[in-house]
Amino acid sequence: MPQHLSSTTSNEYTISSVVNNQTSTANEMTVVEYKRIGEGAFGTVVEAKLKYTSHNNNTSTITTTTTTTTTDSENQWLGPFAIKRVPVQTEYKSRELEILREVNHPNIVSLRFYFEKESSNPKDKTIYQNLVMECLPSNLQNEIKYYKQSKYTIPYPHMKAYTFQLARAMLYLHGFGISHRDIKPSNILVDPATVTLKICDFGSAKKLEPNQESVSYICSRYYRAPELIIGCTRYTPKIDIWGLGCVVAEMFLGKPLFQGQEPELQLKEITKLLGPPGNSFFFNNNENYRGNMYSTKTFTCKIDQRFKQVFSNSPPDAIDLLLKILVYSPEQRASPREVLVHPFFHELKSKDFYVYPRGSNKPIKLDLFNFSPLELKLLGPYKDELLSSI
Ligand SMILES: Nc1ncnc2c1ncn2[C@@H]1O[C@H](COP(=O)(O)OP(=O)(O)O)[C@@H](O)[C@H]1O
Ligand SMILES: [Mg+2]
Repeated sequence: MPQHLSSTTSNEYTISSVVNNQTSTANEMTVVEYKRIGEGAFGTVVEAKLKYTSHNNNTSTITTTTTTTTTDSENQWLGPFAIKRVPVQTEYKSRELEILREVNHPNIVSLRFYFEKESSNPKDKTIYQNLVMECLPSNLQNEIKYYKQSKYTIPYPHMKAYTFQLARAMLYLHGFGISHRDIKPSNILVDPATVTLKICDFGSAKKLEPNQESVSYICSRYYRAPELIIGCTRYTPKIDIWGLGCVVAEMFLGKPLFQGQEPELQLKEITKLLGPPGNSFFFNNNENYRGNMYSTKTFTCKIDQRFKQVFSNSPPDAIDLLLKILVYSPEQRASPREVLVHPFFHELKSKDFYVYPRGSNKPIKLDLFNFSPLELKLLGPYKDELLSSI
């Protein structure tokens, strides 16, 4: 990327028009970037603080956007935030700003401000879009790696809490018809101190309209749903549920479940766990598929036995959940609300459910059932089951 920032140097600049996402008002603000926290395919993510410059006299309009650490008065630094910077124009259409502006959910990263800025390199005339988001200390990829290094897995109660929050975010997104289209551990932010989870990276997300075609070359390979692998273009947000299943499996295994060495070999990896897909899967998802159908069975036992072999150290209710998610047919694959009511999460409802954040001996209580009226509506007939005996 043209704008380099070592983890020690800080970079301060003033922007005349920074839009506050909540009020849609634009103000002049000073930005200090002091740490690089992520580098992806298209952009850079830095940790930063912002403050309204002194000649702004309308700062009172933003008093509701305070973060927990600061207040919104003049000369006071707000943050810390994560600023994601991506070129405004690329060959891929990013709907990230549009979608982040529309959503508001405890398990989706929240956008606080946004602005456009030219690169600080005078030779580079690219305009960058800057998304100023709440900042979380880690992501699920780092957490899985952290525990793997110490030969552990993420503790089961934490896995349950994380998976529940991920499914809750999907219930909400899919309620709007929005598919994230890049679910994977590095796009799932977590705060291990509070066992909070928030989905990030909406750079591939799209509102899928029924009967509208979308590109099938989406999602990172290991997390791609089988219908995408065979080139389906009328897929549904169920592709995200497949990703959720892969993420849950990865928490248990400490490594990605399906590691196809090449795009064409990804389906082969899936057949090693699920067996060959039926003809109807190909017919329903892409009649014109001419690739390898991997129709030879590579194991003789029943599918649930196969899951028990692969997830030999995982509890039976987790295996049952994965059996309902890792299903070829998108229609038969569990929906977010079916995931949320699964017995794997029953423990979360108990009055005695506490978690011990990593490295702490003080248990904390999680607020996982504070559903909004919209979420309750989306839960429909599943609502009573989910809210029973809390
Ligand atoms: N709001 C945030 N808080 C903390 N870290 C973040 C935040 N947003 C992104 N990151 C970190 O930066 C990385 C890259 O950001 P992401 O949005 O996934 O960009 P890309 O499209 O380049 O993959 C993420 O994997 C995550 O580790
Ligand atoms: Mg990403």
